[in-house]
Amino acid sequence: MSDKKATLKVDGLDETIELPVYSGTLGPDVIDVGALTSRDMFTYDPGFVSTAACESKITYIDGGKGILLHRGYPIDQLAEHSDYLETCYLLLYGELPTAEQKETFVSTVKRHTMVHEQIRTFFNGFRRDAHPMAVMCGVVGALSAFYHDSLDISDEHHRQVAAFRLIAKMPTLAAMSYKFSIGQPFMYPDNNMGYAENFLHMMFGNPCEPSNVSPVLARAMDRIFLLHADHEQNASTSTVRLAGSSGANPFACIAAGIAALWGPSHGGANEAVLEMLEEIGDVSRIDEFVSRAKDKDDPFRLMGFGHRVYKNFDPRAKVMKEAADDVLAELGIENDPLLAIAKRLEQIALEDPYFIERKLYPNVDFYSGIILKAIGIPTSMFTVIFAVGRTVGWIAHWHEMISGSYRIGRPRQLYTGHTQRDFVALDKRS
Ligand code: CMC
Repeated sequence: MSDKKATLKVDGLDETIELPVYSGTLGPDVIDVGALTSRDMFTYDPGFVSTAACESKITYIDGGKGILLHRGYPIDQLAEHSDYLETCYLLLYGELPTAEQKETFVSTVKRHTMVHEQIRTFFNGFRRDAHPMAVMCGVVGALSAFYHDSLDISDEHHRQVAAFRLIAKMPTLAAMSYKFSIGQPFMYPDNNMGYAENFLHMMFGNPCEPSNVSPVLARAMDRIFLLHADHEQNASTSTVRLAGSSGANPFACIAAGIAALWGPSHGGANEAVLEMLEEIGDVSRIDEFVSRAKDKDDPFRLMGFGHRVYKNFDPRAKVMKEAADDVLAELGIENDPLLAIAKRLEQIALEDPYFIERKLYPNVDFYSGIILKAIGIPTSMFTVIFAVGRTVGWIAHWHEMISGSYRIGRPRQLYTGHTQRDFVALDKRS
């Protein structure tokens, strides 16, 4: 915080309004516009693109420079030297764990991987062809009906237990939503396995055979979770904060986050990337789709390109591209037609002035879609996997908010509807 001030002069108002300006440790200063309310004025900022809705110490992004820091640590360093659960610890507690703290954290997460047996029955209420994100919205919300002993948000211990439960159970529920869709038995978690390895075991294992998860694929999966772990005040995280600001329980808040993540402009993009590649179908049709993406009268956009915040490159995409290369080499995939389209598309878009001028680079979802496809994850599960990784970010932000001072979120509006008018009786309406 600083002593800086901004002075606002509004037409028709004699006085000037002084607004405090706060500086963070990094990033742009923010102007505190709270004083406007008492003068019967609000700020207008559709999409909240210029509004800092909270103070946070968790994640910093400089979209222009392509920087992403979690608690100060660059994402590429975390992706290279850390793993998902260690990054979870960092996001939740603010510091990297000591070896002992890490061991305790990992073993506590492992103790919570199973879900209440009744949840297995709960799944039977869904249609088999339901989208797994629809199932996840339902089952994660329903966790509050199963874990009554961690719903008191004013109790730090309850908050911690809810955090462990959510981080540990999300892969189990995600894999269950897939197994349910293909009619295979649910796999119980195997707590001898690492977090990502266990997820792949529950996805692809079956009770008749021992699981054999490739360490390269488990590492790639872990990186996907890690690279999606948090991204400051994005749409789903802001949704979790807004839901949490009313005092809602953490399971309900995370279910709200999952719903917000589902949209194709946010977490749904990785699924949309693969659907787009399938629609293109052949390298010879790429030019046609690139022209459509550039046509103002055509709503089509190249999925997996561009980002609301990154206007240089997405630092996660760099790491994800390396992981994609590792996975393709491990699996010996060289001639996959969709991957050939993806590679050519990437090349064309990186050279085309339309994309260069608008700073539209391949984003994290472009490459994560390719990796997940290569691993054999069905496209409908892509956004679910994003949700698994992002759960810790949602919880970290929810916890930061609940453990500090907060008010119920209540945005304002610029009303442009009718002024007051008298009710018209049914028989008098034309
Ligand atoms: N393909 C073609 N043109 C595009 C694209 C695209 N993917 N993205 C933006 N543009 C154009 C847009 O038409 C506009 O052109 P003009 O200036 O001539 O009007 C210009 O680029 C700026 O676009 P914008 O809509 O103002 O950008 P935005 O910051 O509001 O949108 C976005 C960001 C991610 C919603 C958008 O780039 C998009 O729809 N991308 C495809 C979906 C996608 O990959 N989303 C995943 C984002 S990463 C995952 C996450 O963090 O959630």
